[in-house]
Amino acid sequence: MSHPLEEPGLSTRFIEPCLLIIFGATGDLTARKLLPAIYNLAREGALPSQFACIGFARREKSHQMFRDEMKQAVSKYSRTGAVDESVWRSFKEQLFYHRAEFHEKEGYEKLKGFLEQLEGRLGTKGNRVFYLSTQPSFFPLICEQLHSCGLIYDPNKIKDRFSKVIIEKPFGHDSTSAHELQDNLLQFLSEEQIFRIDHYLGKESVQNLLVFRFANSLFESLWNNRYIDHVQITVAEDIGIGSRGAFFEEAGLLRDIVQNHMMQLLSLVAMEPPVSLTADAIRDEKVKVLRAIRPLDRSQMRDVAVRGQYGEGYIDGEPVTGYRMEKNVASHSNVETYVALKLLIDNWRWHGVPFYLRAGKRLAKRVTEIAIFFKHPPAVLFQEQKMRPANLLVIRIQPNEGCALKINCKVPGSSSIQPVKMDFLYGSYFGGSSPEAYERLILDCMMGDSTLFARDDEVFSSWELLTPLIEAWKELPKEAFPNYSAGSWGPESANALIEKEGRKWRLI
Ligand SMILES: NC(=O)c1ccc[n+]([C@@H]2O[C@H](COP(=O)([O-])OP(=O)(O)OC[C@H]3O[C@@H](n4cnc5c(N)ncnc54)[C@H](OP(=O)(O)O)[C@@H]3O)[C@@H](O)[C@H]2O)c1
Repeated sequence: MSHPLEEPGLSTRFIEPCLLIIFGATGDLTARKLLPAIYNLAREGALPSQFACIGFARREKSHQMFRDEMKQAVSKYSRTGAVDESVWRSFKEQLFYHRAEFHEKEGYEKLKGFLEQLEGRLGTKGNRVFYLSTQPSFFPLICEQLHSCGLIYDPNKIKDRFSKVIIEKPFGHDSTSAHELQDNLLQFLSEEQIFRIDHYLGKESVQNLLVFRFANSLFESLWNNRYIDHVQITVAEDIGIGSRGAFFEEAGLLRDIVQNHMMQLLSLVAMEPPVSLTADAIRDEKVKVLRAIRPLDRSQMRDVAVRGQYGEGYIDGEPVTGYRMEKNVASHSNVETYVALKLLIDNWRWHGVPFYLRAGKRLAKRVTEIAIFFKHPPAVLFQEQKMRPANLLVIRIQPNEGCALKINCKVPGSSSIQPVKMDFLYGSYFGGSSPEAYERLILDCMMGDSTLFARDDEVFSSWELLTPLIEAWKELPKEAFPNYSAGSWGPESANALIEKEGRKWRLI
């Protein structure tokens, strides 16, 4: 199977006819991301002509009601703006709704009958993708029901059609629960049928990390502890937790952002070149990096990890409430909405290069970026160089996807040196809007390409690193939350984490 990076475009890839069944089809994620993504794939002609999407949820509604609601969702959330009526006319005929409860066997039996009827009519050959866009506690139950009703097949026995399951994050809430969940799922599925989605991996700018590193000799030769002083990874959001208060109270930011998205970014930045672009070759290298991260020492947690929670403040000049005042949040909640970490990777390439990670809600702006800070050159010739920033490479994941390189230049007509910026912006170079992450990932799953999905050992390694921190935070004295204002760059202690080592967070 060739990797998507080798593919010229979404619409040129061959996809087997199939049915896509979304569990949790009346939920927020389906409306905001999944249906707009599927619609855009249809609009691009990337879906097979023999295809249908079936929404599964518990609310009573007809096919027509579901179609009408999804049309509204697409017009509200699609990256391509207003719905194209000519596309919608045929697309809506491929949308269906099935009402049932997740625990009701009868609902799955009826679903089976309905899918078989569609398969006969459309010629989708029994190929099925199940997307579990539900609360994680339902994942094992749904897989068990799918298995017991024969809706999913054993790929070792049945080779002429496929059945796969896309699983939303979070995969477990700590190391033990992630292993338990996997053990549960393996009773009904094999690992090759499980597609753990991390939508960061579907972003063009994240996929470009591999191209950037391994298709350019310029950067890769400097990509090590000889030339790099440190790396900063920032995932900042200016929004709060919105309607996800109940979810966030259980998860917190470490589980919601750091364990998955940030560890994925870190592993792509730090991995060794894979031997090929196959899914396993890439994921083998990513997991090696995760395993090489120095375990967080319980007695030194305060030196390497900072947590914060936002209080009230201002975003874009508008007052906003603090986390504890948000809907479905306890008035004395101790849940973190900000995390800063210092990680060290104990391998040959990265020995002595700290990776500083920071992520938070209600920060000064929405930005996800990776900043590579190079070392100063020897201070032999240009003494004032020491006062100047060293070279900096910034890979912007969102918004304004692209990268910028800061280099020092002589100011014309003067002997002084000034940093200047070379900037590449995806949008202005390639034009148009990039496909949404969910578009790429849904298509990849249909094709059976798991490169951009997290493998079980990646998820376990990430949890093994962070579970001691989760446990230490439970035992350490409570922080004086809230400890940063909405609209700021996080708590003061996060500055101390990096400044005590003579470095500073990048001003973005
Ligand atoms: N929302 C996001 O921005 C986001 C981002 C990343 C990941 N995720 C993940 O995506 C998943 C879905 O999130 P969401 O925000 O879309 O959740 P949600 O809005 O709470 O939707 C839950 C869905 O599950 C259905 N459901 C719940 N209990 C059911 C039952 N017993 N039987 C049948 N259907 C049942 C609901 O159907 P009814 O409405 O008919 O009851 C609804 O369609 C979660 O794993 C979440 O962590 C969400």
